[in-house]
Amino acid sequence: MHIDIITVIPGLLDGPFSHSILKRAEDKGLAKVRIHNLRDYATGKQKQVDDYAFGGGAGMVMMIEPITRCINALKSAKDYDEVIYLTPDGEAFDQKMANSLSLKGNLILLCGHYKGVDERVRQQLITKEISIGDFVLSGGELAAAVVTDAIVRLIPGVLNDETSALTDSFQDGLLAPPVFTRPADFEGMKVPEVLLSGHNVNIETWRFEESVRRTQERRPDLLKGKD
Ligand code: ADE
Repeated sequence: MHIDIITVIPGLLDGPFSHSILKRAEDKGLAKVRIHNLRDYATGKQKQVDDYAFGGGAGMVMMIEPITRCINALKSAKDYDEVIYLTPDGEAFDQKMANSLSLKGNLILLCGHYKGVDERVRQQLITKEISIGDFVLSGGELAAAVVTDAIVRLIPGVLNDETSALTDSFQDGLLAPPVFTRPADFEGMKVPEVLLSGHNVNIETWRFEESVRRTQERRPDLLKGKD
């Protein structure tokens, strides 16, 4: 999978992709993340990527020309399954969407800034719009990093323990159960006996019950429609 991220602040994305799981995915050749500086596709001395909004009002708007040039350049080298725009008014991102995007081949992620992009970009070039929550970030970069992380860790072979993504919270519509590690007794705080029993069926039953209990307590909305 190739993920090409288009941004006006490439430095914001230096960190997240050079560590941990995303780095491992790159090293194993399972996912490639490339950052593209939109300014490289701007013309003129100023390398302008934004301009005042027609009709007036505060805030700048990202211009259609550099974005078109950049997306066309990427498309001339590769086919893409989706051209995604990160925006607070997009479709809500969740585990189901992460699962479905992890099955795709190549993705372009466009990070919005200022007041957003010229509407014609959304009409002409964007195939999907994603919001990572009902709040406004100063740009789409952190949202792009969140979406990329959630997708890439689902690609088979990226995580060491193949089953661990399957037992994540949300994968079965439930929150994950509590987990414990050594020591079994820390200053009198004991690990639940069943986890030390070695009895797999009892352990699985306990985990399932804890998942349901936790979901009921914290996210009852997830249980609606389940019996
Ligand atoms: N850009 C700014 N805020 C955002 C959000 N909540 N989700 C996705 N992109 C954004």
